[in-house]
Amino acid sequence: MAYALDDFCTDLNRIVKAEGVAGLSHIAEKLEKLLGNPAFVAETFTDDTPKGKRTLHFDAETGAYVLAHVHLPGQRGKPHSHGASWAVYGNARGYTKMIEWARTNPEAETHSVLRPNIAYRLEAGEARAYGPHVVHSTEHPEKAWVIRVTGTKFSDIPRYHFNPETDTLIETV
Ligand SMILES: [Fe+2]
Repeated sequence: MAYALDDFCTDLNRIVKAEGVAGLSHIAEKLEKLLGNPAFVAETFTDDTPKGKRTLHFDAETGAYVLAHVHLPGQRGKPHSHGASWAVYGNARGYTKMIEWARTNPEAETHSVLRPNIAYRLEAGEARAYGPHVVHSTEHPEKAWVIRVTGTKFSDIPRYHFNPETDTLIETV
């Protein structure tokens, strides 16, 4: 039997409970397995699926969400972190240009100075984990279908994004 959304959600619950953030790479591996199932992709996205996100699954026990995103060509996000939470991104179709940013000034300073640390493409079928406080940004030059798994509902905990005007990481409300 092909690895389906239910199988992924069962594994997600088990890994989060057993390993916490130490298990993020295992969640990414499982997400790649799910993205490798053409039936899952076909039942989750169609060419008519509008831009935006929808919830595929919420795990009430761990607070984890599985979200399906459709990005239109030209979408570009600001550098941000997920605060104390985490995220795993995986592409079902198209690619994501991902940049991970490094802070170059001391934590004690209230503003953040960021520089690009690594840049790469997440291709269709690939997934990657972003742990707590990892600053990253996404860009979609072409249409892309993305699955994002988050550790908790973002409204429950502070989340941060980078403001290029002020050079600071600020809490998103
Ligand atoms: Fe993110």
